[in-house]
Amino acid sequence: MRVTVIGTGYVGTVTGACLAYLGHPVVCVDTDPEKIARLQKGESPIYEPHLEELLAQASGRGGIEFTTELAPAVASSDVIFIAVGTPPLPTGEADLRYLEDAARSIGNAMDASRFRVVVNKSTVPVGSGNLVEVLVREGISESRPAEQRGIRFGVASNPEFLREGSAVGDSLYPDRIVVGTSDAKTLELMMALYEPLVSQSFSAPDGLPRPASMAPVRLLSTSLTSAEMIKYAANAFLAMKIGFANEIANICERVGAEATEVMTGIGLDSRIGTKFLNAGIGWGGSCFGKDVRALLHTAREYGYESRLLQASLDVNQAQRQMVIQKLQEKLYILKGRTITLLGLAFKPETDDLRDAPSIQIAERLLQAGARIKAYDPVAMAVCAAQRPDLKIRYCETAEEAAADSDALVVVTEWQQFRKLNLTEIAALMTSRILVDGRNIFSPEQAAAAGFDYTGVGRVRSARARESVSVETAG
Ligand SMILES: NC(=O)c1ccc[n+]([C@@H]2O[C@H](COP(=O)([O-])OP(=O)(O)OC[C@H]3O[C@@H](n4cnc5c(N)ncnc54)[C@H](O)[C@@H]3O)[C@@H](O)[C@H]2O)c1
Repeated sequence: MRVTVIGTGYVGTVTGACLAYLGHPVVCVDTDPEKIARLQKGESPIYEPHLEELLAQASGRGGIEFTTELAPAVASSDVIFIAVGTPPLPTGEADLRYLEDAARSIGNAMDASRFRVVVNKSTVPVGSGNLVEVLVREGISESRPAEQRGIRFGVASNPEFLREGSAVGDSLYPDRIVVGTSDAKTLELMMALYEPLVSQSFSAPDGLPRPASMAPVRLLSTSLTSAEMIKYAANAFLAMKIGFANEIANICERVGAEATEVMTGIGLDSRIGTKFLNAGIGWGGSCFGKDVRALLHTAREYGYESRLLQASLDVNQAQRQMVIQKLQEKLYILKGRTITLLGLAFKPETDDLRDAPSIQIAERLLQAGARIKAYDPVAMAVCAAQRPDLKIRYCETAEEAAADSDALVVVTEWQQFRKLNLTEIAALMTSRILVDGRNIFSPEQAAAAGFDYTGVGRVRSARARESVSVETAG
């Protein structure tokens, strides 16, 4: 099946590479000529593990091309994916201008030579599937008014669930595939397109073996509206789950319970599950905040005020401020202090800074008169380019960043930070304050290295404190 993917961001590039790897000839289209030029050279415009390797392997299978010319790609395709950005407007609503442009351009480029499926992979408010259909029709009537009756197409919603940092594995080995459409022929084509993923009949790419527990993938066929809703509901639930862990951690901190133990204890309940229960400074990234706000906005349009969704946003926001409070508790005055941020990306294994807690923390610290040093394995160049106004001293290593600073804040849980020699780091610092915003170190380990440690929802040693109080009571 010939495929066009419109938008070569995180979702579009990974989708295109995976579909080509499965054997479909793919053309990826973007309006950004710089991105296309890099992709044509085999370079990924984003930092995403395994993506460049997959792009190289995809060329030798279905084949993958990159272009800024949308019309010829659409004209020769059976399936056209829309994977453009849907960033938030100040009201919380999704900005649909890129989606609208893409859908109209698809219509402009269609002819009667074949049946085509237009698949929306961008996260769009409930009801946008119909909007895509209307816009494609408008595009057709603009460019081919005489032929419009003979031009056949179907529309599907195929929400994307990949996680940045593990996007390639998530796409090749998904938990499920959701296809929303009311048209039987469209569903049939989508099932054929995804058959290798569903049956997992393809050979695993180099360096990314199939998980041992991998079973055939469930393709869930739904209505268009349900598919759109599934994406929002999934993100809202995940954001809420992390928010819940943070809320409980904040209570743990007050009563002297250890949040990591509590989360293990509740996560072992199979109804709850262990994932997404890490207390810390909260979630960030391009999706959770935007999607929860968009869902709240949609609910309000229908006269419904979702208190749970609003609370999940509020809890997350407060969690970021907590870093500043913890620094103030330890240092009293932030003016003139040097604070080191370990990690800038919103999560490990990505250089994405959209809605990253690091940015808000840096803004607050700078407002308070602190000086900031930072180290991130991949996101420093992006940060310097996107936020030249933030006076951050970027360092080559974590050690260089920690040297002569008053406090260290773990903002992103990069794997390499877990292996740092805390004793060496502490020796380099002016005062040894460690605010572990991701609970990657044990309080005992940090204290042994000489740090005044504070995590999220943690006590220095839960068992030691309990045994002292038992002895006292006795
Ligand atoms: N990033 C994620 O982890 C993720 C996960 C699931 C779903 N999503 C959703 O997928 C969509 C895309 O997200 P992303 O992170 O890949 O966005 P992105 O901003 O990284 O990429 C979007 C790309 O679309 C291009 N574009 C815009 N208008 C275009 C047009 N008319 N024609 C061709 N190209 C055009 C832009 O130049 C850009 O390269 C969003 O709706 C997002 O909510 C993202």
